[in-house]
Amino acid sequence: MTFTVHKLHPHTGAEIRGLDISQPLDDATVKALRQAWLDNLVLVYRGQSLDKYQQRRFVEYWGEVGSRANKLPAKNPRKMDGPDYDSEEMFISNIRQEGKPIGVLPDGELWFHHDMCYSERPNRASFLFSLEVPATGGNTKFANMYQAYDNLPQRLKDRIEGRRVLQVFDEVQDSRLDLAQYRLEDLKHWNQPMVLRHPETGRRALYVNRLMSHIVEGLDQAESDALLEELYEYTEDPALVYEHVWKPGDLLMWDNLCSIHARTDFPKEERRLMRRMTIAGAPVIPAWENATAA
Ligand code: OGA
Ligand code: MN
Repeated sequence: MTFTVHKLHPHTGAEIRGLDISQPLDDATVKALRQAWLDNLVLVYRGQSLDKYQQRRFVEYWGEVGSRANKLPAKNPRKMDGPDYDSEEMFISNIRQEGKPIGVLPDGELWFHHDMCYSERPNRASFLFSLEVPATGGNTKFANMYQAYDNLPQRLKDRIEGRRVLQVFDEVQDSRLDLAQYRLEDLKHWNQPMVLRHPETGRRALYVNRLMSHIVEGLDQAESDALLEELYEYTEDPALVYEHVWKPGDLLMWDNLCSIHARTDFPKEERRLMRRMTIAGAPVIPAWENATAA
């Protein structure tokens, strides 16, 4: 099968044209797509028509299909897990039935983040297929964290080498959770290296984000906040960001280890519906391990 790759941005994102991904793909095609994905971090396929089985078949070409983030700790009073909580398919949607959202991350703006960086094994990749989109807004922005790392001045590279940061998430989408209001053990959290080594490319990528990164190990909160704020100048540098304007029938897949993503605000009264699946991941490799590789 032949397809063409069209860069959408100098650093982040490419569109694949000429493929109907609802159909089975041969090995050579999958291999070539994988290289395009590693090179561009985000692949966009437009004009697709996928039911959940076709989406799942496509996702399976990339690895083991992931299940949703671990259940919230039992004591969390706001836990939302229903009978299908561990299912492989989930919806990102603001649509409500009997007042309850049918999916997660329902409304409005969502700050930059890595999916599941608050867990031991963040998913390797995420796949979002658009079924309904608002007329304006609800765009998804992606940024290249290899490039963000490479752009850091040596002073900042030295400050974060060998350090970990506490990653936490609990439903809040457009501010950092106020940890003073919670007990950490009631929240999904994990200490992650601030710089990771990508398992396939061997490259270093910055692994901090505004939504989930809380405190750098070994620093007090003020020092940590100042350092993180400096790093966000690089991670959220507009020069690194590709902003995707959705149409129904778009399938986007992103490399969740070397990119961050965010969502712009959109009108509450307009429907947005995305079907989401993931590829499971492994523990994150700190950049300073295997320093001889790549
Ligand atoms: C996600 C996510 C952004 C969006 O599915 O992990 O962050 O645009 N979605 O809905
Ligand atoms: Mn996300």
